[in-house]
Amino acid sequence: MHKVIFDTDPGVDDAMALLFLHHHPDIDLIGITTVFGNAAIETTTRNALFLKREWQIAAPVARGLAETLDPARPQADWPTFIHGDDGLGNIGVPGTIDLPLDPRPAHRFIIDAVRADPGAVTLVAVGRMTNLALALKEDPGIAGLVRQVVIMGGAFDVPGNVTPAAEANIHGDPEAADAVFTAPWPVVAVGLDVTMRTVMTRAALATIAEAGGARARLLADISAFYIGFYEGIVDDGMVVHDSCACAYVVAPELFSTRSGAVRVVCGGIADGMTVQKPDGRRFGPSDWDGRPSQSVCTGIDADAVLALIARTLAPSHRA
Ligand code: BDR
Ligand code: CA
Repeated sequence: MHKVIFDTDPGVDDAMALLFLHHHPDIDLIGITTVFGNAAIETTTRNALFLKREWQIAAPVARGLAETLDPARPQADWPTFIHGDDGLGNIGVPGTIDLPLDPRPAHRFIIDAVRADPGAVTLVAVGRMTNLALALKEDPGIAGLVRQVVIMGGAFDVPGNVTPAAEANIHGDPEAADAVFTAPWPVVAVGLDVTMRTVMTRAALATIAEAGGARARLLADISAFYIGFYEGIVDDGMVVHDSCACAYVVAPELFSTRSGAVRVVCGGIADGMTVQKPDGRRFGPSDWDGRPSQSVCTGIDADAVLALIARTLAPSHRA
């Protein structure tokens, strides 16, 4: 069983990933922490509460940060053209959701949960790395107590998606991502190298919606706008970035990884670029020296991951 805290910026593909974690029998979802990214923090937090209510998720929601670790960084516009004005595909999410938030800020929730169960908690982070970086800053000792950190983020051997250099979750807070990659805890990066190959077709989503009841139908409604964004980028359907990170937690054998220290470029034209120094390769002295080796996903059995996602979202469905 994997005890998971899901750090997220819902977000259409975040919503699918949340339903995956909620349904998967090997996952014990112990908390949802929100971060800005696909929308402002008020919106992503409201969306997390909305999905908690609609899908009857027991895990508490703790609100996270509204801005980058370095507050001097300029805030980019929200990607409404990808996730809609409401962050959930313009389905008309109510303005407020009458459910309580956990009283703690997200980073404190993470620290408390990790310290309460040393060695047991997996952090799955699929938005900006800001909450994780702040948790590390406030309590560096948690690094040795976390089971693993699985992130959706980075573009290692492929172009980025915000700039040619950088992927959105890293580009949105490069200093935070660098702190997460260089901390002494095991990080697995599930980045664009593998997520861009993992495309759920319209037909596959329709089959899930048919087999998966009201929860899956809501997910299909939320996803329609996002599928529109992906027209012209993929042949048919949508890239399921954040669900790939969740799939890694329960089925790492469906991925291949490369080990080595990772640094994030902070500033300049390559702001947010993720660069790995593969273990065993020799270079001159560099800023990668003495940093922990982390795992970067370089390969994926995309068909098997999509089948796992389909089975999990709609348990009666056998892909
Ligand atoms: C990532 O950015 C967000 O738009 C998605 O939710 C995903 O986490 C993909 O680059
Ligand atoms: Ca996300």
